[in-house]
Amino acid sequence: MEGAILPNLPNTRVAVVTGGNKGIGFEVCRQLASGGISVVLTARDEMRGGEAVERLNALGLSHVVFHQLEITDASSAAALAGFLKTRFGKLDILVNNAAVGGVEYGQEFDTNEEKFSGLDFHERVEWMLKNAREPIDSAKNSVKTNYYGTKHVIEALLPLLQASSEGRIVNVSSNYGLLRHIGSEEVRQELNDVDNLTEGRLDDLLEKFIKDFKAGELEMHGWSTKFSAYKVAKAAMNAYSRILARRHPELRVNCAHPGFVKTDMSMGSGVLTPEEGARNLVKVALLPDGGPTGAYFAMGEEAPFV
Ligand SMILES: NC(=O)c1ccc[n+]([C@@H]2O[C@H](COP(=O)([O-])OP(=O)(O)OC[C@H]3O[C@@H](n4cnc5c(N)ncnc54)[C@H](OP(=O)(O)O)[C@@H]3O)[C@@H](O)[C@H]2O)c1
Repeated sequence: MEGAILPNLPNTRVAVVTGGNKGIGFEVCRQLASGGISVVLTARDEMRGGEAVERLNALGLSHVVFHQLEITDASSAAALAGFLKTRFGKLDILVNNAAVGGVEYGQEFDTNEEKFSGLDFHERVEWMLKNAREPIDSAKNSVKTNYYGTKHVIEALLPLLQASSEGRIVNVSSNYGLLRHIGSEEVRQELNDVDNLTEGRLDDLLEKFIKDFKAGELEMHGWSTKFSAYKVAKAAMNAYSRILARRHPELRVNCAHPGFVKTDMSMGSGVLTPEEGARNLVKVALLPDGGPTGAYFAMGEEAPFV
């Protein structure tokens, strides 16, 4: 199978983690595998993903395998689904971790945890708000990756999750995806009204957001002006997760915010280690059978979507 390295895997639960080559996703793979779960670590880049698997195998976690996955590419998701079907016949846990920040920092900046020592939580957040720029292409890519990429991976893997006795989806969210970051009361209410919300309406709202962004009218129409696309895409993903949870009571579909974590996405400015952030997601992935679905968890604890 192209892109996959196939050692013998024990007959256990099977998890797929997207964006598993680094950051929080890598740690989620390590922690799930340490708990005896067979992990398919996916990454868009074969070399980065293969190296990540080698690092985990070197820790004695031989039941981690690699498969390529670019989440915005339908054929890549279909190839992963084919691999899972042949190899395992099911999928128990899908952790949709892959995402982009949707912003750019100046070339003078790189991921540097040292730089933030001595700064408190709010000063670190302020640094990000001050130094992040949001060009239109980054905003569009954020919506394409963080909402549509995640959604299409779920659609491709849904039959495999349904083949599990209790398939679980953990959509890695953010406190930036909370509805409080959307200024328009009307849009907030619509996104919170999961009984009536449809995927088509989510498409319309995202299209409207991009139109307003292009026209330079974010504020006028009640959208956030900082990390705007990231916030809207995560809010849409939260709403979609709730729609999905209602439609598929046989699954557990939850959203989880890892906390503010020192990774490339935060330029190293976070306050938690990737290990701590990942623990907040793994806790949700491993909730007991029959646990909550359609819920949001902030740092491991159930919390409101607003
Ligand atoms: N760090 C934080 O403080 C924080 C806070 C709240 C939520 N989160 C969420 O936590 C998750 C992990 O973030 P992180 O901080 O670990 O970020 P990160 O270090 O930047 O890692 C992001 C991962 O996503 C992958 N990715 C991006 N676009 C992809 C695509 N189109 N297809 C496949 N993989 C793709 C990246 O692959 P490449 O290496 O190839 O780029 C990388 O593996 C994200 O969902 C993020 O929104 C993070």
